[in-house]
Amino acid sequence: MKMTSALRFEAVHKVYQGAVPVHALSGVSLNVESGAFAVIEGPSGSGKTTLLALAGGLERPTAGRVQAVGVELTALGERRLAAFRRAEVGFVFQDFKLIDVLTALENVAIALQIRGQRRSVARAKSLELLARLGLAGRTSARPATLSGGEKQRVAIARALVTEPALVLADEPTANLDWATGEQVVELLRVVAGERGATVVVVSHDPRLARYADQVMQLVDGRIVAAHAKEAVA
Ligand SMILES: Nc1ncnc2c1ncn2[C@@H]1O[C@H](COP(=O)(O)OP(=O)(O)OP(=O)(O)O)[C@@H](O)[C@H]1O
Ligand SMILES: [Mg+2]
Repeated sequence: MKMTSALRFEAVHKVYQGAVPVHALSGVSLNVESGAFAVIEGPSGSGKTTLLALAGGLERPTAGRVQAVGVELTALGERRLAAFRRAEVGFVFQDFKLIDVLTALENVAIALQIRGQRRSVARAKSLELLARLGLAGRTSARPATLSGGEKQRVAIARALVTEPALVLADEPTANLDWATGEQVVELLRVVAGERGATVVVVSHDPRLARYADQVMQLVDGRIVAAHAKEAVA
């Protein structure tokens, strides 16, 4: 079987300009295979969030090339880049970014509605996915009344409901105790896998590596180690 690449960086640099320019990424080359669950570990400030922003087309590299699901992002103009993000990428943010005044169900359904799906269809798909993530009993709750693990699962549902090819998760366990974090990551891995999505998780927590098909280490904006292992059964 030919391995296809879901994410490819070639000698990527990212410099944030300012009074003192910050070299956040310094020649990152990496390859994440289609369908993989990849974990990129690195300490605070190593460039993890920057790497995800480039992978999802939220930021552009200062130098080098970024390819995601076969699309050369560096060649796209703003409109096509935004269209690419909407069609192909699901983001899971560290701080959940749920909308306070909406219920759990509405927080997920809105991702489909803003992409033009009818409300009834959006709600049905969202209900099904929330149930798959163990939240069938919490769909009418507002974020303020959800636990951290529940909020993160709603955020995962919102990222997956649009059936993105590429799911990018920034420190998905950072605000959770380890047992809850473990459950959340396992659900993300399994449910994204069922949908054929490629997942890239960045985290400072080395314990996430055990869930990964591919592990990379990012230090000071450089990949210092990478290895692939057998998928966790
Ligand atoms: N918008 C920005 N403007 C200027 N500098 C930035 C910007 N975003 C990030 N940086 C800098 O780039 C470097 C990498 O930041 P980044 O947020 O990618 O690291 P990180 O690994 O995600 O860190 P953390 O684990 O703390 O979230 C840091 O030195 C940071 O201060
Ligand atoms: Mg970060």
